[in-house]
Amino acid sequence: MDVAYDWNSLPVPSHLREFEARWTQRRDPLAFSGIWRFHSLLPFAPPEQVVTIGEGQTLLQEANSVADYVGVKPGRLFLQYEGMNPSGSFKDNGMSAAFTHARMTGARRAACASTGNTSASLAAYCAVTRLMKAVIFIGSGKISYGKLSQALDYGALTVQIAGDFDDAMARVREVSRELGIYLVNSINPFRLEGQKTIMLRVLEALNWEPPDWIVVPGGNLGNSSAFGKAFMELKELGLIDRVPRLAVVNAAGADTLYQLWHDRRVRWNGGHPPKETIDEYFREMDERQAKASTIASAIEINRPVNLYKCLRALEFCDGMVCRVSDQEILDAKAQVGAGGIGCEPASGASVAGARMLRQIGAIEENERVVCILTGHQLKDPTATVAYHTTDQAKFNEVLGSRGVKRASFANRAVAVPNDLAEIVKAIQLYS
Ligand code: F0G
Repeated sequence: MDVAYDWNSLPVPSHLREFEARWTQRRDPLAFSGIWRFHSLLPFAPPEQVVTIGEGQTLLQEANSVADYVGVKPGRLFLQYEGMNPSGSFKDNGMSAAFTHARMTGARRAACASTGNTSASLAAYCAVTRLMKAVIFIGSGKISYGKLSQALDYGALTVQIAGDFDDAMARVREVSRELGIYLVNSINPFRLEGQKTIMLRVLEALNWEPPDWIVVPGGNLGNSSAFGKAFMELKELGLIDRVPRLAVVNAAGADTLYQLWHDRRVRWNGGHPPKETIDEYFREMDERQAKASTIASAIEINRPVNLYKCLRALEFCDGMVCRVSDQEILDAKAQVGAGGIGCEPASGASVAGARMLRQIGAIEENERVVCILTGHQLKDPTATVAYHTTDQAKFNEVLGSRGVKRASFANRAVAVPNDLAEIVKAIQLYS
């Protein structure tokens, strides 16, 4: 299901630059929000119903050390830090929109299944606005501490299912239907409306000139679907003349999109995707009892609910799909961290994917590439600390079990006796 607008009867800007006028009205919460200052491009709600908690104040950073790692020229690689949102991930973009719609329907409870960020976001919107009660479903042991701590702190009803995200997703759909609870997972089309604005902010930061590539991690495939919809609409409205290429990056241990795209040659096919091939793939996956497994727990998903919309986005944006190992994800994440600000493992997949696409020559060294950093560095401290640790047993327990062999860019703590002379010696030796 899509949100569709009758653009002919709506006021639409004649140039994207017109949105800049909103900056001067930042005391108005709807102008301050990085979602709602683009309201005319997601005009499904009357302004008085709109819910904002100040989301979308995010940064597009030119990152030359990461450009070097990816293999593009200086000034060509940009990182879109969506971790700067109030709940620390891109989810707040979509949540402000879905939450707004939930309010329009008079919902009293909202639910989601989550690998952690959607639940943190929903819990935050419920806690700040007091408009609804959050009910969240998580897989047992499948959620990083940073994210779990948010849901608990913000007071969400947290239901831990004996199973993984895909199990929790199936259940929350049943439960929401049975109890009439508003579902805010990205199967909800209003989520995607909010997530379109990530692309608007990227364009804005690039002075409204589309980059050559947008690279994004793929889990439930909401972002990629939303980005595609944003570009479809901008093109239809004549607000951009060129569409960036879209690259969606799977983790190797959660690679449904990759398998379908490369091995089964599944395409959107002008609106006629091969449903039987896709259903057959899922049947085989069930027979094998395949479970997703990656250190990037945010994208540990085997049944992406937005698969079809993502295929549509890939067709429209002349897209590519690649997959990267947990080793590549963590090394790329360490490179992002070493450049400052940092990200969580799933976000590292976008940089690892860009590097792979550069290596195979799909991305050229002169092209402008935007990697979306979907979640904050502090979301998953366990993975980060295990990567940098000197404790081999800890490394093996957290990362070795995932096939990660080395921490290529580890910054190890230096152990010294509690002795002034020894400390001075160590600092002189290492700095
Ligand atoms: N990156 C992060 C940090 C995420 O939390 C997610 C999804 C993704 C990427 C994948 O994005 O689903 O749009 O392809 N997290 C969801 C959650 C599933 O429950 O928080 P997608």
